[in-house]
Amino acid sequence: MEKKTIVLGVTGSISAFKACSIVSSLTKKGYAVDVILTRHAAAFVPPLTFAALSHRDVYVDEFDGTHEALIPHIELARRADLFVIAPADANILAKAACGIGDDLLSSALLACMCPILAAPAMNVHMYENPATQTNIATLAKRGWSFIEPGEGMLACAETGKGRLAEPEEIVAHIESALHNQEEASAALEPLPLAGKRVVVSAGPTQEALDPVRFLSNHSSGKQGFAIATAAAKLGADTVLVAGPVHLPTPENVKRIDIVSALDLEKAMKEQAESADFIIMAAAVADYRFATTHEQKMKKSGDTLTMEFVKSPDILRGLGQTKRDDQVLCGFAMETENLDANAREKMLSKNCDLLVANNLHTQGAGFMTDTNIVTLMTPDSLSHLPLQTKEELGRKILLTMLEIQKGKHDHASVH
Ligand code: C5P
Repeated sequence: MEKKTIVLGVTGSISAFKACSIVSSLTKKGYAVDVILTRHAAAFVPPLTFAALSHRDVYVDEFDGTHEALIPHIELARRADLFVIAPADANILAKAACGIGDDLLSSALLACMCPILAAPAMNVHMYENPATQTNIATLAKRGWSFIEPGEGMLACAETGKGRLAEPEEIVAHIESALHNQEEASAALEPLPLAGKRVVVSAGPTQEALDPVRFLSNHSSGKQGFAIATAAAKLGADTVLVAGPVHLPTPENVKRIDIVSALDLEKAMKEQAESADFIIMAAAVADYRFATTHEQKMKKSGDTLTMEFVKSPDILRGLGQTKRDDQVLCGFAMETENLDANAREKMLSKNCDLLVANNLHTQGAGFMTDTNIVTLMTPDSLSHLPLQTKEELGRKILLTMLEIQKGKHDHASVH
């Protein structure tokens, strides 16, 4: 790996201590990490801690004269492949939005030419303050990326949004951002999925009971949308069949919106015919109401018994009809015996690849932007570390490409 340089700005927040884990993890992964502390951050964690973890000089004040670099804010901005601010307090966001450079960090940001990634952390009211939200929107418009803070009990003893994202999540976003850059610089080379057609399903299905009620699940659609994003970036002609979710359509992706499992089955059958890769990331409702009422159901007795009928298993159907040159990928979310149950699912549904995750693993699952999964083929198994859903999408697609090549080579030998 060519050694990439990450400049990490740390501002004055109680969560500054979490930046130590970020520096430690990035350094172990082989990145050069230059840390800039604001003076308030240095009050929370001494510069020496960061110097020991990064094995490099740590920068606090522009004019302390202790550094080799003559003009540190320019030198640091120049050498950064990625500029990260974690934790980013309300003050640095406001200064950056206004173009103020009154200390080393804010001046380096002004001089910065590379992508910038910020992980805000602050009191919930400071975060929700229209000034902070406007600053975040301004910076996002200028191309900054943000890692949303988490919700929960804050150091100020209030509850709400404002907790710094976990270090592993921040590291995953950093690696994904670096990866996107590499991709952009390789843009002149032919894309690996050029000429391939990818069909991916995403999100939940909704099964109507009457005009106002339905049966559904917690699927956010994020993993399926991230796969479609990755597929389009890899050059594939991409179709996304989406259940009801509040997500924007990824660039260069054709989106088909569906509501119920039956709609999804129809759309997938139609789209699968011309597909090279078919990915069923949708969380399909296994059952639907035996009767859908035309009018709103009135309440009557103290209990209510409903009859359900089974929905078609779409993945199984696609497994039965798939051509030799097509590659089919399913998902499995399990709460126990992950590997064994997932393997059984893969074989019985005739999938070439199965992505299995455990609902109880932190950083995996429905609402997050990251996932921790096991990738399984009939003759291989790999447990992948936490990564962004888009990065995982890329891995899934490149694995499917290898599987298709293998099928092709096998066919030409016989
Ligand atoms: O059997 P299980 O529902 O756990 O399998 C999950 C996989 O099967 C996912 O890929 C999901 O999209 C697909 N599935 C389907 N039709 C259903 C239920 C699940 O295609 N009715």
